[in-house]
Amino acid sequence: MGKDFISTSEIVGESKHFYNYQTLVCEEHGEFMSATFTLKGESRATSCPVCVSHKRDYDYIKQRKEQEQENQLAAIKAVINRAAIPPSFEHCTFDNYVIYAGETQARVVNNLRSFAENFAQVKTKNIHGILTGSTGTGKTHLAAAIINELINRGYTAVFATMSDIVNTIQSTFANKAQSKQSVIKRFIDIDLLIIDEGAVTNRDFDRNEIFDIINTRYNLKHPTLLITNIIDDLKTKLGDRVISRMQQGKFVQVFNWDDYRLKISNHSGV
Ligand SMILES: Nc1ncnc2c1ncn2[C@@H]1O[C@H](COP(=O)(O)OP(=O)(O)O)[C@@H](O)[C@H]1O
Ligand SMILES: [Mg+2]
Ligand SMILES: [Zn+2]
Repeated sequence: MGKDFISTSEIVGESKHFYNYQTLVCEEHGEFMSATFTLKGESRATSCPVCVSHKRDYDYIKQRKEQEQENQLAAIKAVINRAAIPPSFEHCTFDNYVIYAGETQARVVNNLRSFAENFAQVKTKNIHGILTGSTGTGKTHLAAAIINELINRGYTAVFATMSDIVNTIQSTFANKAQSKQSVIKRFIDIDLLIIDEGAVTNRDFDRNEIFDIINTRYNLKHPTLLITNIIDDLKTKLGDRVISRMQQGKFVQVFNWDDYRLKISNHSGV
């Protein structure tokens, strides 16, 4: 035999690979030429090249998106000095939220869960909302659960009190590295902003800055959720107009049950 002929047994002997071509059919892209070979005694076939290249593109885009989300969250962290959720609420999920007040409570939890799970639709429908009810009913807990869920789904979401936002904006006055506008823009850019009224009083802040953030987010279809003990207090702070617009969206979740902590101590039998 001449030197230019290499037998298959020689290939197998030298490289432990045996190549053979066959036509396979991809359900999506039709026929393609597949190389089959044995590697370590296992028979393999190369996949549809179109699928492979789509997957490569998909992985690339996914990686880019994750990187972008990470950068945005890091930027927000630098701005508000903590992660998207206050440390004491990091553990909060929908699953560890206890339903102890029947149907009404179950419905609110369900509404908020589906807000998080269908966030793409929430955005296109430009849904904004209000969580209202007395202290200890779990408003912040469920807000944190929403944030956790959205971050897992690749969105940027942040929980901030009004004081967080006001202090952050005011801190730019003494800081040449960060302009007021760039900080405001951070609050506008994130996919979901949850603003808790917190303990801020009427005179503590310039309502226009928070108003502008909410308003600009509304125009850009970036949803915002407001948390308050009493809706009328929020109206005094932010003005009727923005609050009635939030109410018109009909995503007003009323937490009208007892404080979780009282519930727990009652049941402990002490
Ligand atoms: N239904 C619930 N199941 C489990 N934990 C709860 C529930 N409601 C409230 N909590 C917990 O009780 C504490 C107070 O709740 P929080 O979310 O701060 O109430 P709110 O914001 O309405 O004042 C938090 O530690 C929270 O995790
Ligand atoms: Mg709270
Ligand atoms: Zn294919």
